[in-house]
Amino acid sequence: MREDNFVARMRPGNMRAGLRLPLARSHLALSSQTLHSFLAVIGRYAWLRNAADKRSLHGYMEKENGEPISQPLRTLDEVYKWRPHTDNTGVASVPLRKLVLASGDRPKTLVCHDMAGGYLDDRFIQGVKHADAYRFYHWANIDGFIYFSHYLVTIPPPCWTNAAHKHRIPMLGTFITEWDHGKANCEQFLSSVNAYTNLANKLVAMATYYKFDGWLINIENIIQVDLVANLIGFVDILTQEMHRAIPGSTVLWYDSVINSGKLDWQNEVNELNRSFFDVSDGIFLNYTWNDNNLQRSRELAEQSGRPYDVYVGVDVYGRGCRGGGGFNTKEAVHTTRMHNLSVAIFGQGWAHERLDKVDFLQNENRFWQYLSPDCPCQGLLSQPLWWHCCQGCGQKMFVHGKVVQDSPWSNLSLQSVQSAMVNGVGQTEEDGPDTDQCSTSLCTDHAFQGGSCLRLSIRMPQSSEPVCYSVLESSMPQSSTDLIVSYTLKPLTHPDHYAAHLTVVSTQSDTNDPAVHRHLLPGGGESERVMGSDRNIREEYVRPLMEDEVMGILGFYSPEVGSGNWETRFYRLRVEEGATMQLRLCVRHTHGEEGSKEEVIVLLGQIQILPLTASLREVVLVTDLYCRDADHFPTKTGHVVTLVLHWTFPENCAAYFLRLAMETVEHLFENLNSRAVGAVVVATGAAIWWFQPGQKKYNPPLSPYWTLPLVGNIFQLMRMKKYSYETFCDLSKTKEYNKLFMIHLGPKPVLVLNHIDVVLEALVTKMNDFAGRPNIYTGMLMTEGGKDIMFGDYGPVWKFHRKVAYSAMKKFAFGENLERLVQNSVSKSIAEIQKKGDAAIDMRPVIMLLVFNIACGMAYGKEYDFDDPDFQQFVDLTADFIEVLGSGLPGDIHPWLQYLPSSRYNKFMTMMDLFTKFLHERHAECKENFDPSDPKSITDCMLQAQKEAEEEDKEMKDVLTDTHIMMATMDVFGAGIDTITTMLIQFIAHMIQHPDIQERVHQEIDVALGGAQLPTLSHRSKMTFTEACLCETLRLGTLLPLGVPVKTTCDTSVAGFDIPKDTMVIVNMWAIHRDPDFWSDPHSFNPDRFLDDAGNLVHKPSSYMPFSMGRRVCLGKSVAQSSLMLAIPQLMRQFRFSSPSGKEFKLEFEESGFARIPKSYEFLVAART
Ligand code: HEM
Repeated sequence: MREDNFVARMRPGNMRAGLRLPLARSHLALSSQTLHSFLAVIGRYAWLRNAADKRSLHGYMEKENGEPISQPLRTLDEVYKWRPHTDNTGVASVPLRKLVLASGDRPKTLVCHDMAGGYLDDRFIQGVKHADAYRFYHWANIDGFIYFSHYLVTIPPPCWTNAAHKHRIPMLGTFITEWDHGKANCEQFLSSVNAYTNLANKLVAMATYYKFDGWLINIENIIQVDLVANLIGFVDILTQEMHRAIPGSTVLWYDSVINSGKLDWQNEVNELNRSFFDVSDGIFLNYTWNDNNLQRSRELAEQSGRPYDVYVGVDVYGRGCRGGGGFNTKEAVHTTRMHNLSVAIFGQGWAHERLDKVDFLQNENRFWQYLSPDCPCQGLLSQPLWWHCCQGCGQKMFVHGKVVQDSPWSNLSLQSVQSAMVNGVGQTEEDGPDTDQCSTSLCTDHAFQGGSCLRLSIRMPQSSEPVCYSVLESSMPQSSTDLIVSYTLKPLTHPDHYAAHLTVVSTQSDTNDPAVHRHLLPGGGESERVMGSDRNIREEYVRPLMEDEVMGILGFYSPEVGSGNWETRFYRLRVEEGATMQLRLCVRHTHGEEGSKEEVIVLLGQIQILPLTASLREVVLVTDLYCRDADHFPTKTGHVVTLVLHWTFPENCAAYFLRLAMETVEHLFENLNSRAVGAVVVATGAAIWWFQPGQKKYNPPLSPYWTLPLVGNIFQLMRMKKYSYETFCDLSKTKEYNKLFMIHLGPKPVLVLNHIDVVLEALVTKMNDFAGRPNIYTGMLMTEGGKDIMFGDYGPVWKFHRKVAYSAMKKFAFGENLERLVQNSVSKSIAEIQKKGDAAIDMRPVIMLLVFNIACGMAYGKEYDFDDPDFQQFVDLTADFIEVLGSGLPGDIHPWLQYLPSSRYNKFMTMMDLFTKFLHERHAECKENFDPSDPKSITDCMLQAQKEAEEEDKEMKDVLTDTHIMMATMDVFGAGIDTITTMLIQFIAHMIQHPDIQERVHQEIDVALGGAQLPTLSHRSKMTFTEACLCETLRLGTLLPLGVPVKTTCDTSVAGFDIPKDTMVIVNMWAIHRDPDFWSDPHSFNPDRFLDDAGNLVHKPSSYMPFSMGRRVCLGKSVAQSSLMLAIPQLMRQFRFSSPSGKEFKLEFEESGFARIPKSYEFLVAART
């Protein structure tokens, strides 16, 4: 985009026709810098020169200073006249990702915010100029928020909706009629079905437009008896229409009018008011109840099958409520919980309104501390996570550690996501309570972002043990993934007197690993391990990323050293899929006289957790950039500029834009030098189409070969002297084809990714774009047209299938189950080996027995002996498969070749018949013995999922059929057996080639197992050298050198080249595992490359991907790693392996372009005494 053209288009004359800039629907590549220039352009050339051409902004203005405000609607007339798009500034900008109020199986907590009639400081959309405005920050303890005022229609100010949505809390407005004028209003809108439907539609439209999530209906006046039916009809239609327009939304009825039309608060739900309860999502009871009221309410709620839809009112101001309110509100809340009912806390801002504001934080924390046993923290902070402690106010405004506004402010829209741990609620002893040695507080004198940061002070002698304080807890990603974690610190005492680091403690739901994993993220200066090792906890030392690594991953680097002495440290962390992640700040006093208690103060300014997918390796393509609304006008004190920008960006870049949004605010402060906090970034995630005619020239990757029509490069590939993966690897040394290139298999274009940079971009950053599976002829024959996971194409059915198979696997192939299974299977094979005595033996069949038994145990809960005919047939079949499928069938190259007669095809089909017969028989056995209450295998578990899915929705019958289940178990055999067998054989071969390494493995295993009979998963952390040998075997072995091809699901790009939808993509894992930039002496077996000097496993280089990455990452990754780390120690404890010839042993492979299967060898296996 050329800036001068853009400026020309932005001049006032061009803007009169409307606010949508001419850029709308154009495509432009936008980096952070470009956006800055764009904003600078807007600021300098458009609105600031356009003072006269104002009034384009729609909304309510404060009369005194013209500032945009939010306000209620006072009369029915105003309500009927209301139209969307007449109040653009009052619209919330943070969407709610998940509605929680209307569902669930536990009592809920609502707060109803009624403070001095509402619309106080919070009405100012751009905030106010003092730091004492009321803010709510105990979001973790509640499930819903009602913004209440005594006006007819209360529309929550957008700052409240934004803050609530940031915490995944739904926000409700209110519709209230009171006194005589309320009665008159009711008579008007209840006069006919049309009249009340019309009003209901207006309320739905308002919630939709302003982006809040429901209504509290409060009718506190008498209703003529003949209008009661219409009132019920009104609540009914409002509830239905809200659900239709905003799925998951909530309409609550306040316990007031009863079915006779009388205003008669019941303090319970009963036959007099249940007609309103029945047509709404819940009832909010009045607060002068007694135990009998609650008992009856509980019974009726249970009878209705809606036990948690009764919200017992609790008034913090007392007023006849149990316990008298105030700090004793806990008594009333506790009573409701004794009856197992939900609660609605009325007037939760009491500590701010009634007590000294100077002590607000202390009082507010105390109030919620008392309530927390009955309102425990729900939910964890979700990722991507950007936390900076700010409550939405401050004495100054900081951006990146710099002061951008040197005066007090409050604006809830700028509240950071709040951590329950820092708010003084929910702390346990272990979390690090405040003591005389260690205290934490909110610091407003300094901040990195917004108005505050966390201050941690320790007063203790110099010590090697750090004091750790839990800062926040977040949910873990759904699957194992790479994260970028950064934290920003600043010392207030001498920087040499302390050492601080963050520790990420992840708790695995996957019991395959030890339950807790600690990632230690020390600072650049700290090279030693920072904490004592705990035997039961897996610990990993994560080194900070260097500047160029951060640049490479995020596309920007801002250590911020110098911005007020803040320092940001970046780390790349691989976490396994699991339950929670707790982040702890650990500080150690490193200086001072022995025994002296010098105070050390450290400020924590920010923590960010971004999935690697959210990072930008290069410029992001942004589309549809336009200014949704804008205004600039002079006030008594200066200029006010308000912009509402809109742009569209790829969904997986959300986290990046979150950051960009903040930078935008910073930039506006710098460039406009006036109050302009109203910059709202509206970001919608939508796919980007790259091939719009006339927009962009198609730019495909180059091809190293001449391409012939129909046959493509097939002859060149056939004539290659080496395997294609080796030839492609050689191309990585050329300038043109070092990272990626195109080849043609028959008429099909195939993209080859030859370097980890482009693999990361494709499989991780753009994982959904590269999640498809091409139609591989052989695969289709094997899986009844892709009804398995390996060959199934990406889509809802595949996703569901993979999820079900994964959960089934998790249930039966993890933890103790897996331990038992592997131990038994290995014992059987050991017995077979022992039978052979001193003779050299071919290890393949015995290893295969071991893996076959693991697979059959998982899939069917069945085990086999070596002589079993089924097992022997399987061994033969596998050998035949390798021979026949070594290079695929002709139909894989070109569809029409499948019609040519082929002996290989016939043999393949005969083998498939035998194999499917085996699967059918096992499946039938499982079905026959299936007991849904006691699943005994992956098949049982999937049958159970099938049953549940069908009961929920009949249509699911076609989504998870018996064939799908059978095919998933076939994947366990097809993808699981040869892979693990091959890796075990190669592991043993490496031991034979390197007797010194074999000796180290033996020693380590002996020490680690000690007196234990058999290895378990808890031994794994003590066998780091053995695990390093396994990693090196997986790297060098690279069973599938070209992976399994994937397919693009949409038009996309890699390294700036355009890749159309449906392109086949192959990843040269061979080249990636031998890239000399990552692996010194890449062809040698060197397990030490995975260990640090202290013998701990180091973070694996990004160029390590034996199980692939992204959406198609190996489903059995965890099972495979754990099985291998159980089987290897058990075998190695028993035996010493050597070559019969006594000569140097060389590992050779079967002739196959697809899989690298070692040739059969005979080994000497000596028992260890
Ligand atoms: C050392 C052992 C193993 C290795 C090296 C390995 C490696 C791989 C690789 C490279 C892929 C291809 C990913 C892609 O399409 O990009 C894959 C896919 C797959 N693997 Fe494994 N695997 C192993 C063990 C297992 C086991 C034990 C199972 C089952 C129990 C399994 C089940 C699968 C499945 C179902 C897929 C297809 C995933 C999909 O398309 O979504 N693998 N594996």
